[in-house]
Amino acid sequence: MKQFPKEFVFGAATAAYQVEGAAQEDGRGPSIWDVFAHTPGKTYLGQTGDIACDQYHRYQEDVRLMRDLGLASYRFSIAWPRILPSGAGQVNQAGVDYYLRLTEALLEQGITPLATLYHWDLPQPLGERGGWTNRDTASYFAEYAAAVVDRLGDRIHRWITLNEPSVVAYVGHLLGQHAPGHQDTAEALRVAHHLMVGHAEAVEAIRAHSSLAEIGVALSLSPVHPADAEPANVAAASIYDGQLNRYFLDAVCRGEYPQDVLAAYGQVVDLSYIAQADMNLMKRQTIDFLGINYYFPSVVRAGGHPLLVETLPPDGPVTEMGWPIRPEELRDLLRRVARDYPGIPLYVTENGAAFADTVEAGRVHDQARADFLRSHLEACLAAIDDGVDLRGYYVWSLLDNFEWAYGYSKRFGIVYVDYETQQRIPKDSALWLKQFIAAQADNG
Ligand code: FCB
Repeated sequence: MKQFPKEFVFGAATAAYQVEGAAQEDGRGPSIWDVFAHTPGKTYLGQTGDIACDQYHRYQEDVRLMRDLGLASYRFSIAWPRILPSGAGQVNQAGVDYYLRLTEALLEQGITPLATLYHWDLPQPLGERGGWTNRDTASYFAEYAAAVVDRLGDRIHRWITLNEPSVVAYVGHLLGQHAPGHQDTAEALRVAHHLMVGHAEAVEAIRAHSSLAEIGVALSLSPVHPADAEPANVAAASIYDGQLNRYFLDAVCRGEYPQDVLAAYGQVVDLSYIAQADMNLMKRQTIDFLGINYYFPSVVRAGGHPLLVETLPPDGPVTEMGWPIRPEELRDLLRRVARDYPGIPLYVTENGAAFADTVEAGRVHDQARADFLRSHLEACLAAIDDGVDLRGYYVWSLLDNFEWAYGYSKRFGIVYVDYETQQRIPKDSALWLKQFIAAQADNG
């Protein structure tokens, strides 16, 4: 197998609400996810992130694990309600201190922190004021970003503003499966726009507060294919691609929205909330890198709703989530993004798989996950070979964790977590990855 470039970053990713626990400690305020998960019927068996992997108390062990695996970077998220329990105003120093401790521990082991500012845990007080449906939330987000960068910006140089804005908008506000659990088309579209404005305001704020910052965003991208050559299905695939991918890519890379998507949205909702001043701001704020979260492609047919397509069930192998395993599509996706949005360094900021892991005599034999990682890393290598400026790959996830509405029923970790004891067991896939990274370093 060919080698990755010497500077290529191998990392692992998590998010605050999924791993930290300590939901009520040291002044952390509630987020919309605390409220959602504590609402009966919203998550698998009513499970919550109250304790999760207890990384808040066990970060030192987790950092040691990363060092032992040879990981060069850790992508984690900062919980807005730890920093600003009310969403705005008074900074909670104890919350800041946690991230200082974590960051110090990482830097001591030579692990580069990559911090996401928003991985879905909006402070509940802002949720009560309309959350992302409210334009003000974008400005509060920028204030929060500035507060964080002021305090951590000397140690953390790489920032991701938002994680997967499409999922926030559509899964949270259209499908209702994530917090805040709403099902409203107009609301979801408004949220999608306000997230892009929030991103732009945050980029501006981070630049004003740190000259060292490299700023990006993590988009969930899914290649979309029509079920067949039927013109209605081809059109549906194109507009779905626009909704899911191009809307956000164009916003963060070009500071504009795709015309076909705006035209489709304009037929169902009043878009007058898209203010010219906000578009001008988006245009001015450029990113230093683009994070791509890739899990699977979609095959679609026209549906009844003007904005909702019908997604076909996958054929071929799937993960425990039922997500098709398609590494070759990652290569195509990377090529496409590099072609359509040239000049922006790329990172795969999430990629991984859930499988039904079991512990046997202290080991977890997750060959399927190791195969998944190998094939997707090969796809990355092939894309680099094709000329794509891909700089790193973060496996989702370092640990088994709270998988949102699925609770603890889906395990994505390369490290197994026994939730009764909080024992961590590196799975075979972690041991495979360790070898793989070491072999890269040896031959590099
Ligand atoms: C992504 C999320 C991440 C995790 C993975 C499986 O959509 O960003 O938090 O849930 O999916």
